[in-house]
Amino acid sequence: MKTYRIAILGCRGRGTAAARAYHAHPRTQLVGICDLVEERRDTLGDEVNVTARFADVDEMIQETAPDIVAIPTGTEFHYDLCMRVLEHGVHIEVEKPMCIDLVQADAVIAKAAAKGGQVAVHHQGRVGASMQAIARAFHAGKIGDLRYIYGSGKGYYGGYGLMNIGTHTLNNMLHFGEQCRSVIAHLTTDGKSITPEDVVPSPSGMGTIAGEYITATMQFTDNVTGTLLQHRFNKMDTGAYAMELYGTEGRLFWKSGGAWWLPHPRYIPDGTHDRWEALELIYPEHYDAKNPGSEADYWFVEEYVNALDAGREHVCSGKEARHIIEIMMGIFESAAYGERVQLPQADRRHPLRRWREEAGLEPPAEMPRGYWEWLALESERLAQ
Ligand SMILES: NC(=O)c1ccc[n+]([C@@H]2O[C@H](COP(=O)([O-])OP(=O)(O)OC[C@H]3O[C@@H](n4cnc5c(N)ncnc54)[C@H](O)[C@@H]3O)[C@@H](O)[C@H]2O)c1
Repeated sequence: MKTYRIAILGCRGRGTAAARAYHAHPRTQLVGICDLVEERRDTLGDEVNVTARFADVDEMIQETAPDIVAIPTGTEFHYDLCMRVLEHGVHIEVEKPMCIDLVQADAVIAKAAAKGGQVAVHHQGRVGASMQAIARAFHAGKIGDLRYIYGSGKGYYGGYGLMNIGTHTLNNMLHFGEQCRSVIAHLTTDGKSITPEDVVPSPSGMGTIAGEYITATMQFTDNVTGTLLQHRFNKMDTGAYAMELYGTEGRLFWKSGGAWWLPHPRYIPDGTHDRWEALELIYPEHYDAKNPGSEADYWFVEEYVNALDAGREHVCSGKEARHIIEIMMGIFESAAYGERVQLPQADRRHPLRRWREEAGLEPPAEMPRGYWEWLALESERLAQ
């Protein structure tokens, strides 16, 4: 059995998480790490015992000949780094969201196809232990036929929540909804429907966004509908980041690290129809909880190994991630133009930038990258 050679580009929070998972997995070997900052290379290199440390990604790839390069960097760098790394004909995994618009996503997929590389996007919730449990129950028919899917965020400003957390939730929803055919959404800022003035740059380099509150309805395969809420809460509520599947015979509730089944289609607090059963979480056979790192990141590696062995794509493939960006851009477009948007959209430009331009406005002025600083400034604008 082949051992896959892995190189990590970016040695901070997410690079450390990725490196721990690849280090722990029996079928992957870390062969190089890269960061612009020496101290970060050294901290991570010492932890995972990698001496091949680089400041330049091209040099790292030439010298270490990896099968997969992980790209856990700030979102604004994903596009350039994906294109640069794919040029070497290697496989990649990139942090979420893959890119900030469809023009970029199309180019990355085309480059991968031209170079024979695979693209996976780090939506680890889709393959983690709780989703494995939900998927097993679902495919065993425990909720009958799927009717409806609900997903919610953690309370970030809506447009940012969509790009940051909605990308995960939509990927989870697609496991069950399969394809999203159309989307209709309503976005409000300061209690009113968004206007072109409400189009702003995203915190954390996630492109262009709008909407404090996002309520979106998706039309999935076989007439299954889904609702995604990305609402700004006064106080963050990480527990609200969840997904629920409603079927003809029961319901399944997913959150990171937990999975439950209600063996009735309706929750009625009558002592009979209100008993949610915890599902046993599922881990790869060789997973050792004593290793540092998260089980979901480990599952993500396991899935990449299995996909490459079988010559198929990762379930969190670049194409799936592009479809998620289609949904997210569709949500923005639907709210801006007041119409249902059919997917995939022919016009791949960012709909909010297009909308603002059509209103005769300049692109939005720069804002701070850090979320809380960004939010303070946006709150000031809304208070005027
Ligand atoms: N999947 C998840 O659960 C999850 C959670 C949080 C964040 N994220 C995503 O992770 C990404 C951010 O990751 P992070 O917080 O670790 O980022 P970060 O900005 O803290 O660290 C990125 C590192 O990459 C290095 N780097 C950037 N460009 C480089 C280059 N050209 N060459 C060499 N090194 C370079 C930087 O010096 C830095 O050390 C975002 O896309 C975010 O959306 C994902």
